Amino acid sequence: MNDLESIVAAAKAEFAACGDPPALENAKARFLGKGGTLTLALKGLRELGGDARAARGAAINVAKSEVEAALSARREALAEAKLASQLASEALDVSLPGRGMPAGSLHPLTRTVERIETLFHSLGFAIADGPEIEDDFHNFTALNTPENHPARSMHDTFYVEGGMVLRTHTSPVQVRWMETHAPPIRIIAPGRVYRVDSDATHSPMFHQVEGLWIGDDVSFADLKGVFREFLRHFFERDDLALRFRPSFFPFTEPSAEVDMRFGDGGWLEIAGCGQVHPNVLRMAGIDPERWQGVAFGMGPDRLAMLRYGVDDLRLFYENDLRFLAQFA
Ligand code: DAH
Repeated sequence: MNDLESIVAAAKAEFAACGDPPALENAKARFLGKGGTLTLALKGLRELGGDARAARGAAINVAKSEVEAALSARREALAEAKLASQLASEALDVSLPGRGMPAGSLHPLTRTVERIETLFHSLGFAIADGPEIEDDFHNFTALNTPENHPARSMHDTFYVEGGMVLRTHTSPVQVRWMETHAPPIRIIAPGRVYRVDSDATHSPMFHQVEGLWIGDDVSFADLKGVFREFLRHFFERDDLALRFRPSFFPFTEPSAEVDMRFGDGGWLEIAGCGQVHPNVLRMAGIDPERWQGVAFGMGPDRLAMLRYGVDDLRLFYENDLRFLAQFA
């Protein structure tokens, strides 16, 4: 073996022994780098002359291309080995079952409000809607609650910019509807309302369903009949008792609170109601000598608690899927 052949053999052996690209690049320098053995051999050509120089030059070039070929073969082999080991370690098991998309479901309060809407709709009531950021006039004044009236302090109101309030009840929807519709009127208005209040039975945001029924001779008896009919269907029970307890609201006269109970359980307040106050009709442009009616405001959150047997209102607002999924 001449010197060039042994250089080529050494290069091949060293390249083969390199386990990663940096080692391979270091080995390359030992043969092809500035002080590498083949580079030095080329420099040695200077001392030769004539034919000997040409023959030696050709032999060195053959050796050099063999070393270069061995180098790129080893580079490729290392890259392939790396890819193969990556493929092995990052392998996907395509036979694993998928993660799946759990089906969502309606929130129990949404279900409750939808159920109330369906039942009242079947009794001939339309569904009305109004803004949650309300002006003072619709939330209070037009409901017969003038400035400084003590009834205003019944509500712990969230005031927002520009003299607006987060509506404290759905009653302003009564006013907005009367301003834009002539009697006879038969509506319910479900929606969110807000008060500075928070404990096991009060949330700062809760729901109400307002009702307004105006006609020629709509009376308390009609209200009672509709309420009983609604609750009987809502709870699907016949052992339901209703109690109308005298109360006060500025927008109704007389006013009452509605309590209900099952069998001989305890009474639970579920709504306020009354005969619409003549001032409220007058302010909304309806002649109280010609028309009369009743109104009510009930708490669907309370109805949901009763229907589902939930004893803490806050559970409905914590978005804990372990709780919510039970109503799906
Ligand atoms: N707006 C009253 C409240 O939030 C509830 C209410 C009582 C509504 C009597 C009515 C009504 O329409 O007639 O406390």
